[in-house]
Amino acid sequence: MAFSKWPFLKKIKTNHEKNNQITIIPEHVAIIMDGNGRWARQQGLPRIAGHKQGMDNVKRIVEVANAYQIKILTLYAFSTENWKRPEKEVNYLMKLPHDFLKVYLPDLIKENVKVEMIGHFEQLPSHTKKSIQHAIDQTKNNTGLILNIAMNYGGRSELVEVAKSIAGDVQNNKVKIDQIDEKLINDRLFTGHLPDPDLLIRTSGEIRLSNFLLWQLAYTEFWFTDTYWPSFSRHEFEEALQAYQQRKRRFGGL
Ligand code: IPE
Ligand code: IPE
Ligand code: MG
Repeated sequence: MAFSKWPFLKKIKTNHEKNNQITIIPEHVAIIMDGNGRWARQQGLPRIAGHKQGMDNVKRIVEVANAYQIKILTLYAFSTENWKRPEKEVNYLMKLPHDFLKVYLPDLIKENVKVEMIGHFEQLPSHTKKSIQHAIDQTKNNTGLILNIAMNYGGRSELVEVAKSIAGDVQNNKVKIDQIDEKLINDRLFTGHLPDPDLLIRTSGEIRLSNFLLWQLAYTEFWFTDTYWPSFSRHEFEEALQAYQQRKRRFGGL
């Protein structure tokens, strides 16, 4: 009796192992890094301690993305709505690019990571702009993972800017109305040069987009976890990648 069960058990194990292998890698992963404040509260720490821990986790997750040869990692770091937070917290968040790059830019350069940014750059404080611009310049010839930081980013304001830019071109007779199509709009987004995300991850248990990549996520696969961003680990990232490769993407077809 026991013997006849063996092949069955073995088969399950093999399938399980096969499922654990990550072979279908998303080209572009976007992450809403949420839950820093709640993580800190849980530890009895001030919210900014959560942001600091979240910053260090960015480096860990970049390493995983690099290891799996993901091509683009877009991270939501600060939304156009996050200006509503207390001034002290906003100031800290605006200092984070500097703190992050001071520690990690040499590693990013070594790891062939290319730093890019999406969002309204001009409205950032000058010290924030300076740090980000420096990282972009220092890594512009790198050919590995694109680390795309969404800073002062909002999906709706992005679309408003696209509308204004196209309207201006129509007014100046550079674009005819019937030339406006999905490609023309797409090319004018902050992400115009990038493919749409294949996989969106949001941490912290919130099941919403919070104004992230509204156009670009039209056919993205979503994956949510209750884990707060500072605790989001390599293991959990791999779980998301495993879930992704089980999805059947149809894009409206059959
Ligand atoms: C995400 O963590 C980081 C930013 C939005 C800048 P939060 O600061 O939103 O943390 P929670 O959601 O309050 O826990
Ligand atoms: C989304 O998180 C923005 C970032 C992670 C940068 P929020 O914490 O701002 O989102 P809401 O307010 O819970 O929707
Ligand atoms: Mg939040």
